[in-house]
Amino acid sequence: MSYNNEISRPELTTLEAEVPHRIVVTVDGPAGVGKTTTAGSLAARLGFLLLDSGALYRVVALHLMRNAILPGSTPVPDSTLKSLDLRMELEVGSMRIYLGSEDVTGVIREERIGEAASVFSCRTEVRRVLLELQRSASSKWNLVAEGRDMGTVVFPHAQVKFFLTADLEERSRRRYFELLDRGEHPELAIVKEEMLSRDNRDEFRSEAPLFKASDAVCIDTTHLGPEQVLRCMMNNIEEKLQVKFSNP
Ligand code: DC
Repeated sequence: MSYNNEISRPELTTLEAEVPHRIVVTVDGPAGVGKTTTAGSLAARLGFLLLDSGALYRVVALHLMRNAILPGSTPVPDSTLKSLDLRMELEVGSMRIYLGSEDVTGVIREERIGEAASVFSCRTEVRRVLLELQRSASSKWNLVAEGRDMGTVVFPHAQVKFFLTADLEERSRRRYFELLDRGEHPELAIVKEEMLSRDNRDEFRSEAPLFKASDAVCIDTTHLGPEQVLRCMMNNIEEKLQVKFSNP
């Protein structure tokens, strides 16, 4: 089976040219825990590229919905998956994503797309399309890979793994303010309800469910600020890899 999807990045950095084998740091956890922001800051701090796997599932959901496939319809037609023309441009600490020639990096952040991605991502045929694409990035670059199954399925041999958690109340509150910042008009109770149903779907699906890899370091971020989480991760990485990253 062949798909049109590809990953690119502007140019190799000196660090990538020097490091003989690629390093992968995985960051998994439930919705609203701050993974994308944390993983982005971590990647920037390390000088690694960011692989935001949730964005990939969101793009697939956008593509399917634009082709009139509703979340929950089964099976997802192979012809529609094959017509997916997805391109990622990985950068240090961030990632841009294209559907054909359209930059959809912003559009996929809408709540309805996140909801649809959560439903479509339960399907084996959807996960299969993205698995090799994600893995292929690690053969070329040092990565911080964030998502739900980075440390368990996609990169089981990653050198460093993190699993972030936070109370449902706190995650709902963070998501609520994020939506407000984006100019949306959320209701906290509804945000919390949706987050709970997303948690259930992500944790109890049969394909690559969300759980902590046995060798992942768990960080409860409920009472921690982004800087504290970042420091905790950096300490861990430096200890595991036995290297000191210079201060920014
Ligand atoms: O992290 P996010 O909210 O952008 O992810 C959107 C959905 O995509 C999430 O609810 C489940 C799915 N997803 C997944 O199944 N596996 C991943 N590695 C990342 C995301």
